[in-house]
Amino acid sequence: MKIFIDTAEVEQIKLLVPTGLIDGVTTNPSLIAKSGRKIGEAIVEMCALIPGPISAEAVASDYDTLLAEGRFLAKIAPNVVVKLPLTPVGLRVCKTLSDEGTPVNVTLCFSAVQALLAAKSGATYISPFIGRLDDNGSDGMELIRDIRLIYDNYGFETQILAASARTALHVRDAALAGADCATLPPAVFNALYKHVLTDLGLDAFMKDWITTGQSIL
Ligand code: E4P
Repeated sequence: MKIFIDTAEVEQIKLLVPTGLIDGVTTNPSLIAKSGRKIGEAIVEMCALIPGPISAEAVASDYDTLLAEGRFLAKIAPNVVVKLPLTPVGLRVCKTLSDEGTPVNVTLCFSAVQALLAAKSGATYISPFIGRLDDNGSDGMELIRDIRLIYDNYGFETQILAASARTALHVRDAALAGADCATLPPAVFNALYKHVLTDLGLDAFMKDWITTGQSIL
């Protein structure tokens, strides 16, 4: 499963690049607002840090402007993925950009039939929002499983990008459900390393090691 980082904070991305585990980045208008950065500048820096897909979201509500924004964002760097909302206009633009060879990440997906429409519109990625569904009394992971089944039934190549992940358990369950990728806030990514038995075990090994008086080098 590919791991993307869900942030517009370039400094956070820089810290995570040395892990060698980050395949891409997703941003959205709220994350850009929180970062206080200009979208173009932030995306340029991210694209230079990570060669994988960097999602940059277009925001207009009419077809012509949304398409122009998408084309503008796509020109920033070859690894930009244009993020578009799951609306009739968003999917029309998705089709146009996809036909032009620009990868599109369709965002704000909350149902399996929405995901079906995105795939039929040529989306490279579909972003079902697990956490926000859970927050609203639904089962986010059920959506991932449903989309997996539908895409496999019809051979759609659109990649399922589990979004709005809040916990390491979300990541485990998304992987079990066959999501192609997951996008994680830095804190959730860092939590993937953690297990209390790893910490306790390491502590015991180190205490015993010291008693040997040895050094490896
Ligand atoms: C997806 O691409 C979104 O940026 C993100 O995962 C939304 O997460 P949130 O529900 O925590 O805002």
